[in-house]
Amino acid sequence: MPVTLFRNIACLVLGGTADTPMQELPALEDAFLLVEDGKIKDFGPMANCPPNAAQTIELNGNYLFPSWCDSHTHLVFAESREKEFVDRIRGLSYEEIARRGGGILNSARKLQQAEEQELLERALMRVEEVISYGTGALEIKSGYGLTVESELKMLRVIRSVKERVNIPVKATFLGAHALPPEYKADRQGYLRLITEEMLPRISGEGLADYIDVFCEKGFFSLEEAIQVIEAGARHGLRAKVHTNQFNSLGCIQACVERNALTVDHLEVINEEEIQSLKNSDTLATLLPSAPFFIGGHYQPARRMLDAGLPVALATDYNPGSTPSGKMQFVLSLACIKCGMLPEEAIKAATIMGAKAMELQDDYGSIEKGKAANFFVTPPMPSLAYLPYAFGSDLVERAYIRGELVADKRR
Ligand code: NIG
Ligand code: FE
Repeated sequence: MPVTLFRNIACLVLGGTADTPMQELPALEDAFLLVEDGKIKDFGPMANCPPNAAQTIELNGNYLFPSWCDSHTHLVFAESREKEFVDRIRGLSYEEIARRGGGILNSARKLQQAEEQELLERALMRVEEVISYGTGALEIKSGYGLTVESELKMLRVIRSVKERVNIPVKATFLGAHALPPEYKADRQGYLRLITEEMLPRISGEGLADYIDVFCEKGFFSLEEAIQVIEAGARHGLRAKVHTNQFNSLGCIQACVERNALTVDHLEVINEEEIQSLKNSDTLATLLPSAPFFIGGHYQPARRMLDAGLPVALATDYNPGSTPSGKMQFVLSLACIKCGMLPEEAIKAATIMGAKAMELQDDYGSIEKGKAANFFVTPPMPSLAYLPYAFGSDLVERAYIRGELVADKRR
């Protein structure tokens, strides 16, 4: 039974629970943490520290945080899209690039041609990278396949990732990410392909945990989104939906009524929509790296929090709107651009992210019996330093199930 004791933690950020106010982030100063068999066995003030264990690690001024829980990524993709990045600098918009056949359709063409093994190797490299940035639980979507075979291929890659990494990975089926050009004159034909061919095979093989649809002008309408969400529900898949990125089409209410797990993006959200999410079982998930990268409104997190609405934060790691899986930067944006307090942002990125993947019982906070997934920072003057120092990588050491998996000490 491997036991590790971490002593003299300057600040042990516990993280708290998903149902307490977002500003409440319990933490212990001058603390110890005991890990046994990959799980948190005990923690408390140094005054109660047990005798040294088989392995004892002395910390000194370091903070210890529960790992980030990144509940929204598209990190299985074939190639980067920096040409579109340059096109945007030259004046084209994200939507205009998509209308010209770039964007998601560009990634779909590349993914359709790529070998499964090659996709897996690239995805595993990205997962390893985000683990070194402190991520300890992850969601990954399909949605660059857009044919039966390629969506299945993508979901199988996600399954292989699940089997190979030591962190929990949730898979979301996003067949309704964009309309393939061959269905331009037959939108219902593509929706039938999703609901009658892809979904039965995906659920038959147990390849997805959730269903998603991109409800947006130029992508899928509210009625089409409802069709997808309800078809997913018939196969036992709860929805995590891309909505309100550029326009509000009424999808938030539709998601709340259908008990969706999360609604994601929310750059554009009105009071009525905020109220409909309040006291619902649908969690708002904000992705501020997307407006940072492609321009546009940031999520009005302050308005949501002041209305009493809890939120989660995630990266949206994908080649088009967010080529980054760095949660620490998401927290900086959440504070600087969305008006979140550091405590709120940390909670949104840990326990709320875990809730956005239904993993809150085992991940997302420092609690006895939970997985020992956490990271250690260098000595910091205060908690707020983490989102403040936006250019520094403050994840000095990352631990997964109590094991050191990344060490950047110089
Ligand atoms: O969440 N908005 C839709 N999907 C992704 C971007 C996909 C892409 O551009 O490849 C997002 O931003
Ligand atoms: Fe996304």
